[in-house]
Amino acid sequence: MKAARVRPTSPEGKPYGFPGNVAPSSAIEIHDDVPKPQISKPGELLIQVKASTVYKDNLEWNELYPPSHATLGNDFAGIVVAVHDSEQYFRVGDHVYGMTHANRGGAWAEYAIVTTEEAVKKPDNLSWEEAVVIPGSAITADQALFRHVGLETTAQNGQKRVLITGAAGGIGMFLVQFAVLAGHHVIAASSSNERNEAFLRSIGAHEVVEYKDFDTLDKVDVVVDSVGFQVLADCWKVIKPDGTLLSFDACSWGYREAHKEKGISKEGVRALYMIAEPSRESMARITEHVAKGNIKGRVSKVVSLNDVREAYESAHSRGSAHGRIVVLI
Ligand SMILES: NC(=O)c1ccc[n+]([C@@H]2O[C@H](COP(=O)([O-])OP(=O)(O)OC[C@H]3O[C@@H](n4cnc5c(N)ncnc54)[C@H](OP(=O)(O)O)[C@@H]3O)[C@@H](O)[C@H]2O)c1
Repeated sequence: MKAARVRPTSPEGKPYGFPGNVAPSSAIEIHDDVPKPQISKPGELLIQVKASTVYKDNLEWNELYPPSHATLGNDFAGIVVAVHDSEQYFRVGDHVYGMTHANRGGAWAEYAIVTTEEAVKKPDNLSWEEAVVIPGSAITADQALFRHVGLETTAQNGQKRVLITGAAGGIGMFLVQFAVLAGHHVIAASSSNERNEAFLRSIGAHEVVEYKDFDTLDKVDVVVDSVGFQVLADCWKVIKPDGTLLSFDACSWGYREAHKEKGISKEGVRALYMIAEPSRESMARITEHVAKGNIKGRVSKVVSLNDVREAYESAHSRGSAHGRIVVLI
């Protein structure tokens, strides 16, 4: 079968990994002769992949690198072709979508093994492209806000002021929609109001701000950061002394210790990092919101598996198209 894989660092199959050993995009290779995976354990499904997505910094996700050839692609939408499913959630022929575990990927391929925890049935009214932009981004946003930060899912016991960085990004747009839906006051931050304000208002943001203008903001209870680096460093200035700061940007790992050393962190602020986990329960709730039209994903571009390396590179440039790049397989 055809698959896009990350070439190992050496002929002996030494994997990439942190620190300082991240695969360059040129390490993404298309192969036509990858063995089709076979299901072997209870709870596994073999799916014919119809669509996957591209994430900025995916080659920095060091969890992917234990095997010698990593196949990227965590979001999947496809058709079940074999099941080892004692609980009988799924049957051959079901149309499913979801997110594979961060340490496995697998969906930049014609066939992939996913688990019954990772998949749910795809709503019939969503195309493969429309469906596949939802799982990883919406799960990350949902778990960031409600599991890790612990925001109320209805703000009736107290509305919080929530600042979201990278708000116009692939995950940021879900963070904005979920926090607004829960009734919180959402301030959407990006590098350019000119490029992003109309879009951010259209998905419900109450205020918009550029990163360079953080000083003008009233203090916030919660910051959820998807950008990292200097933007994350600047977030400490806008957070209340007892607030919560969470970053999930791939390069923010270890930021708490680094910022403490630099003297820019605040003692009373809860500083968190997270990695999203596949969850049927999260996906079921998200699918319900999608079906009701409460939450929407966006496709910025559709590419074929052959063009996935160029697509990965273009995910690292700022453009005017909001949404996620879809790989149609
Ligand atoms: N921890 C986890 O579980 C998890 C899960 C999924 C993804 N991630 C990571 O989370 C981060 C955000 O993912 P995403 O898919 O939301 O990213 P994205 O849409 O590609 O980018 C998010 C924002 O980053 C800003 N940005 C900063 N430097 C950029 C550059 N060189 N090119 C383009 N945009 C840039 C942009 O905001 P402005 O235009 O406003 O600057 C953009 O909207 C990535 O590092 C991704 O790998 C982590």
